[in-house]
Amino acid sequence: MKPLKMVIDWVDVRLGVRELWTANTTGYLVPGNINPWYSLGTVLLVLFGLQFLTGILLLMHYIPDTEKAFASVERIMNEVPFGWLFRYLHVVGSNLIVVVLLLHMLSVLFMGSYKRPRELTWLSGFGLFNLGLFLCLTGYLLPWSQLSFWATTVATDAAGAVPVIGSKLVEVLRGSPSVGSETLGRFFALHVVVMPLALLGLIGFHLFCVRRNGISRPPFGEKARPARVGEQFEHEHHDDGIPFFPNYTSEEAAMVCYFIALLVFISFFAPQIFLPLDALEPADPFNTPEHIKPEWYFLWAYQTLKIFPSKFLGLAVQGGLMTFLALLPFIDRGEERRPAKRPLFVTCYVLGLLLILAISIWGHYS
Ligand code: HEM
Repeated sequence: MKPLKMVIDWVDVRLGVRELWTANTTGYLVPGNINPWYSLGTVLLVLFGLQFLTGILLLMHYIPDTEKAFASVERIMNEVPFGWLFRYLHVVGSNLIVVVLLLHMLSVLFMGSYKRPRELTWLSGFGLFNLGLFLCLTGYLLPWSQLSFWATTVATDAAGAVPVIGSKLVEVLRGSPSVGSETLGRFFALHVVVMPLALLGLIGFHLFCVRRNGISRPPFGEKARPARVGEQFEHEHHDDGIPFFPNYTSEEAAMVCYFIALLVFISFFAPQIFLPLDALEPADPFNTPEHIKPEWYFLWAYQTLKIFPSKFLGLAVQGGLMTFLALLPFIDRGEERRPAKRPLFVTCYVLGLLLILAISIWGHYS
């Protein structure tokens, strides 16, 4: 241990790392009444870390070519040592990330943490949510199975509903009028380079915002604080709080373990939930499967396009909803964060959630 201490002493004299460590661990206090919902951000960090790891392992054997992609994935599943495990962890992990993204967003909605001074945290989070979904969309095509080919065809088709530039937009997304080798090439580049880099940058900014503002006190009980900004920047201190490390990090570690256990359980015992039969057949552009549907998290958008008499109207409703969500901190400007004292917005969130759930179920069975 002595050599290690000597190295740390050497670096500490030059960079003051001990002070930095203390300020961000034992000396950084989070609210005493913090609840498990606040651990979901860390769960997301760990799940994204795992996606990077399993993604790199898959990349060593995957071939981004319409003639060879499906066979290369079959090889990963059947011949590469533990290839099946990395693939299942990657597929199930991507779905779990969407679930945790939604839960993290919902907790922020109900506890009003998006309000002043956390507008930038919300906006960067909203960007991360969209990036996450786009990463899933681009990754879905890569195995070049019947499922991935046709799900991508319907998902990219939706962009055609935009007036005037619709068909051009579809062509830009696909690289050609229909899904083909150009689409695979650009989705591959987006999935393995562009989007992960953008995601890393945005996660960095999101965490910077979280750390600068300080974790918000959960809006329950006597000590609930209103959402306010003063004339000058102010970090939210919690003098009666608990140390971030080791007290709170051990609570977070427990939550991370639950989600990893769930990920491993589904990957071992029920991966077919996310890989139905069409995922086991190579893509055939001349054979349309009977029921083409996008992934579960795009079902509500897909069904909305079908409900309205014109696709444009459906797209406008979706655009309106997404804009409302993005600008929420600037629309809901009240200082109150306690859910019980914000009946209008909380009722809107609950009804909106039930509606999206109902439309998704409808989309699944129609
Ligand atoms: C890659 C995805 C994301 C990661 C890795 C991430 C990470 C985190 C972490 C570690 C925290 C601090 C602890 C916590 O409250 O959970 C946090 C807080 C926060 N996140 Fe995220 N987040 C992500 C996506 C989102 C999304 C989609 C939204 C909403 C649109 C969002 C909005 C917020 C807000 C407003 C806070 C402040 C909470 C508070 O202080 O009360 N985040 N995030």
